[in-house]
Amino acid sequence: MGKPHAIVAPYPVQGHVIPHMELSHRLVNCGFKITFVNTEYNHKRIAATLHNGQEDNQIHMVAISDGLLAAEDRNDIGKLTEAVIRVLPREVETLIKNINGSDNQDDITCIISDMGWVLELGPKMGIQTAAFFTMGAGPVALMSNITKLIDTGIINPDGTLIKDQIVQLSTAMPAMKTSHFIWLCFHDLNTQKIAFDSTVKNTQLTECANWILCNTSYELEPAALALIPNVLPIGPLLASSTLGQSLGHFWPEDSTCLTWLNQQPARSVVYVAFGSFTIFDCIQFHELALGLELSDKPFLWVVRPDMTKESSDAYPEGFHDRVAIRAQMVGWAPQQKVLSHPSIACFISHCGWNSTLESVSNGVPFLCWPYFADQFSNQSQICDVWKVGLELNKDQSGIVSQKEIKEKVEKLLGCDGIRTRISELKEKVTKSLSHGGSSSRNFEMFVDGIQK
Ligand code: UDX
Repeated sequence: MGKPHAIVAPYPVQGHVIPHMELSHRLVNCGFKITFVNTEYNHKRIAATLHNGQEDNQIHMVAISDGLLAAEDRNDIGKLTEAVIRVLPREVETLIKNINGSDNQDDITCIISDMGWVLELGPKMGIQTAAFFTMGAGPVALMSNITKLIDTGIINPDGTLIKDQIVQLSTAMPAMKTSHFIWLCFHDLNTQKIAFDSTVKNTQLTECANWILCNTSYELEPAALALIPNVLPIGPLLASSTLGQSLGHFWPEDSTCLTWLNQQPARSVVYVAFGSFTIFDCIQFHELALGLELSDKPFLWVVRPDMTKESSDAYPEGFHDRVAIRAQMVGWAPQQKVLSHPSIACFISHCGWNSTLESVSNGVPFLCWPYFADQFSNQSQICDVWKVGLELNKDQSGIVSQKEIKEKVEKLLGCDGIRTRISELKEKVTKSLSHGGSSSRNFEMFVDGIQK
């Protein structure tokens, strides 16, 4: 028998591609061959970030159409979702047929994806499937309970709210505002509708997969996982230490900040990053800059080139000169390396699930500033359940003020309880990933089972 050969096809946004890549690295270590499917648009971006020789020989990267025209906006989640549902399954099917029809390649033996429409190909083609949820178990439990939310009169059958209220999926779960349901966090009604319909359908389809994996652990989310016993937690999946390079990133990493971090005292630096999607208006961007300046701590701030709406230079006048001796701004950081650096004191974060896991795994406490989707429930998990972070609150005009930033940085860094709890959580996570730990055992069980 040849090697097991997985085709891995993530939903084509950064926060989903990275954990699928991390899962792929883990599978390569277990003897799998991987064909990793990106959209042509993302493939080009990823290729442009790689230096000569940085390609990974063990993971075969292929590109397929995402169904959008070259100039169309891939940050329009509604449009992107509709297009990929329409086009990606067909493209992946053709790819599998081509691979399995050729003499000189190992046949595809399993399909791994967070998109139910791709997983549907499995039974049709006689191939095993694994659904991989890249978000936490909390949001997965919410999605699995949509029918209950409708039956109990919390939402209408089209996903719209009957009334704004606070709900708990179980007494052990954090309370959440209904207005923070994932599909309601988009600003326009059409995107909300597409997000709701696709969430419902995707949940139904992923439930038919042979395996349902989630990038979390029993130690991190016991209450949510108790609501979805069919889901196997195998996380947190972090960058492989053996294959260390950051394959799958859409922006080129600026590693100069690591040298700068080496020169900072232990636990002194505020790391500030908002993932791949968050966009600020100029007023908020300005206020954040002034808040970091006022905090009087060294800081490393990731300012993506597309992070501000209106202007490419939204910094306050004279800001760069004033903070030069204690600040670094980069377009895209090697985040996992940054968070594991001893000079990092805390993380001002949008609470994307990957960022959340990376910070917890390194014992770095949070100041939470969620932007959309699952980030609000991740914030509750961080602040209300794990108690390892503080919320940054908006003022009456909807702005997180410079004063709020300064005060919360001070409060967080002065809180020994938070520091103790994040260290304990880091310990638990490390244990669950080490030999014999819960996530490690689950991963082994999955690797064994998917090869039978
Ligand atoms: C999105 C959603 O926002 C998130 O809530 C959902 O769970 C996944 O999809 P994103 O906004 O990109 O993801 O945030 P996050 O989940 O935190 O993923 C960002 C990834 O990019 C992380 O792995 C992070 O390490 C990486 N990153 C970010 C960098 O490598 N460098 C940076 O400068 C910033």
